Amino acid sequence: MTSSSLTSSAAATETADSAIGDETVYKREPQPWHGAFAKPAKEFPPTDLEVLAGRIPEGLQGTFYQNGTGRLERGGQPVGHWFDGDGAILRVQLSAAGAKATYRYVQTTGYKAESKADRFLFGNYGMRSPGPLWKHMLGLFNGTTIKNSANTSVLALEDKLLALWEAGNPHSLDLETLETIGMESLGWLKPTQPFSAHPLRDPISGEIYSIGVNSLCELSIYRCDASGGLIKQQAIALKNIPLVHSFVIAGPYLVFLVSPVKVNPLPLLLNQLAYADAVKWDPNQGTRIIVVARESLEIVSDSYADPWFQWHYGNGCTEADGSIRLDYARFDDFTHINEVLREVPSGRMKTQAYGRLWQLRLDPKTGRVLSHECVVERDCEFPQVPDSKVGQPWEQTYVLMHREGVKTGEDWFGAVGRFDYKTQQLTQADLGTGIYGSEPLHVADGQTAENASEGWLLMVVYNSVDSRSELWIFEAKGLGEPVCRLALPGVIPIGFHGTWQSS
Ligand SMILES: [Fe+2]
Repeated sequence: MTSSSLTSSAAATETADSAIGDETVYKREPQPWHGAFAKPAKEFPPTDLEVLAGRIPEGLQGTFYQNGTGRLERGGQPVGHWFDGDGAILRVQLSAAGAKATYRYVQTTGYKAESKADRFLFGNYGMRSPGPLWKHMLGLFNGTTIKNSANTSVLALEDKLLALWEAGNPHSLDLETLETIGMESLGWLKPTQPFSAHPLRDPISGEIYSIGVNSLCELSIYRCDASGGLIKQQAIALKNIPLVHSFVIAGPYLVFLVSPVKVNPLPLLLNQLAYADAVKWDPNQGTRIIVVARESLEIVSDSYADPWFQWHYGNGCTEADGSIRLDYARFDDFTHINEVLREVPSGRMKTQAYGRLWQLRLDPKTGRVLSHECVVERDCEFPQVPDSKVGQPWEQTYVLMHREGVKTGEDWFGAVGRFDYKTQQLTQADLGTGIYGSEPLHVADGQTAENASEGWLLMVVYNSVDSRSELWIFEAKGLGEPVCRLALPGVIPIGFHGTWQSS
């Protein structure tokens, strides 16, 4: 980024600074989007929401849940990375009669202890353990070194809501009150065993698939029934790669694109580096492509391709010729996007990273790449598809995007897009000046199939003009202006991932 690409108001406050890579970059004062993160969010009890514009669609009846970091500081000390914040859940119940919202922190052991002490007591993804080395070493054995922040996603089961965090057990919450019940083993998880923040539910069988990468860099794959009970599990050695954030179902397969991010364990053990600093981009061996049979969890193929990094997939399926097709948000490397995410709590972004939607076709038997192309050139993340299309052929992928001409690091996401594979067209809606978005969650139309529309996209936005968070509802097909805007009672930090449970 050059100084000429800064806005005139920002340019007045810039100072030269060094950054990763060879780019010349500049520190800036926190930008308007940072108002969403600047103060710890306050919980609110069930509250009727004011309709700011439009109306709640008739076919949209159910409950929206979203997880994210409710607070990014403690006792005046900022966290080290966006991923370090304490999890807090937003629940919005929608019906034609109105909307009611609740917001509560997940009462993790770490959250309660740090609330009492009013200072950080644990290490985290971007933070070293604050105590003496002996305490850190002891914590490695009893699982107390790193705080389970329960901050990344949610999974709604029939009788409980799970607050998910990638490196440990889920937390179980009451679906209605959001009261924290406690750590959740699902009847089979060992204490501290990871259960990822990106489980996938097969829309046909109802089975849930999840993963976990342990401290020995073993990828565990879990096949569960609709209640989370374990049917089968399998482990794959990742050869010093500690990070697999998500995966995709593609017909009878699961596909893992394992980007070459390697960990240096010694500084972690000795508490010399936080996790975010001990993991390094190592592109030499490329991205490993592991195709697994969904029923047996046995490896079908194991191959390598060019190096890239991704957090999130849109979807996957098998085609008529037996090939796998999937899409995902691709970054050139891990280093830059990790820095961007580290800079979120300060609001002073100086790094750029460009996520773009790519489509990959594979031969599942060999892992050979048949085609690999960028389908959405615009900077985007959080690809989404309807729940009913998970693992099945699909035509539309929805993404959170930057406004025209804006790149990651310059501003927060301010647009939503719909890419149609059939027409190859990108439809977009600009959220407007000073409005910042989050994951666009697709919700199916609850009306009968013959009358059903393409459904809706639900998005929590931060309105920096009115210093307020809002829930926006878009028609998934046409996008355009939101069909309904609801005012939330306070400012909710922009979150990570959500889910929907129909009434
Ligand atoms: Fe994620």
